[in-house]
Amino acid sequence: MPVLEISDLITAVDPQSGHRLPVSRAEVIRLLDEAGDARAARIVAGLPTDRDGLLDPDAVDRLLVSVHAELQRLSEELRIGERLVHLLGPLFQAIRATSGPGRYRLVDVGCGLGYAVRWLAATNALGPDVELVGVDLDAALVTEAGRLARAEGLDCHFVHGNAFDLPEAATVYISTGVLHHFRGPALSEFFRSQAASPAQAFCHFDIAATRLAPVGAWIFHLARMRHPLGRHDGVASARRAHSDETLLRAAAVPGITPLLYEPRGAANPFCTTLRPIIGVRPHLEDPFRRSLGRAARRLVGPDYLTGPTR
Ligand SMILES: C[S@@+](CC[C@H](N)C(=O)[O-])C[C@H]1O[C@@H](n2cnc3c(N)ncnc32)[C@H](O)[C@@H]1O
Repeated sequence: MPVLEISDLITAVDPQSGHRLPVSRAEVIRLLDEAGDARAARIVAGLPTDRDGLLDPDAVDRLLVSVHAELQRLSEELRIGERLVHLLGPLFQAIRATSGPGRYRLVDVGCGLGYAVRWLAATNALGPDVELVGVDLDAALVTEAGRLARAEGLDCHFVHGNAFDLPEAATVYISTGVLHHFRGPALSEFFRSQAASPAQAFCHFDIAATRLAPVGAWIFHLARMRHPLGRHDGVASARRAHSDETLLRAAAVPGITPLLYEPRGAANPFCTTLRPIIGVRPHLEDPFRRSLGRAARRLVGPDYLTGPTR
């Protein structure tokens, strides 16, 4: 049976226009019941609707913003900012070394409240030649991200829309906690659209699939999240996490060398953590490895899929 996240079901936008679409509460409950998730169906049954049974969009927005604010605390605890810079610093160093000086653009796909982009802007960790942009399909989240950035006086910006439909190309795409939303062919399509763009590289962090990840996520979200929706979706996302092998296979698209940092074999199975799938243009692989130094030993490529332990 499919594992569903409530937050994916209670908002809908027209993919062409980006306009918000009405969502029937009864329909969401039916989908969750069909997926055998009575607990999630009960959570949705408690959300307010209008007289026609359509979910109140303002209440849904408020709820999702507050759940994402709690999610931001997890990003802080998991030191997502530092972990991004550990890889993106050497990646931009390799890009500068091969492309020469210029203006580069980092795009965070599905930025939510923009924690990663705001952290990078606040620390100026990547340097003044890297423009920082967060993009999300959800208008309420991305509006709040922009408000926070202005309140914090940060040099970064946020855009409502599809990260792959921007008028200006990204040099590097990143994301945190987004990959597991793309299933089956949509996951390969996600990587293919980046390979088809002028981007030089991508670096997408998501929950590492381990047998203990759902238990770890349950403890973490119980301790850190107040709303039952946040707790439910935190555990569901750990259950939907892609394996290292799935990510390496899906990211092996023409024009990209896929690399996984700290695969499961090298990680402590008791820790729920995030690890990135990285993709670089083939000419960038050696300079990137050199910039990473000793840490490059923690990278694995497509050979990992056929190695002796597979
Ligand atoms: C689980 S949230 C992750 C939020 C954020 N990265 C974080 O770590 O808190 C996933 C987000 O991805 C967004 N999303 C998915 N595909 C997208 C795309 N192609 N362009 C922009 N946003 C996208 C969704 O709207 C959703 O808000």
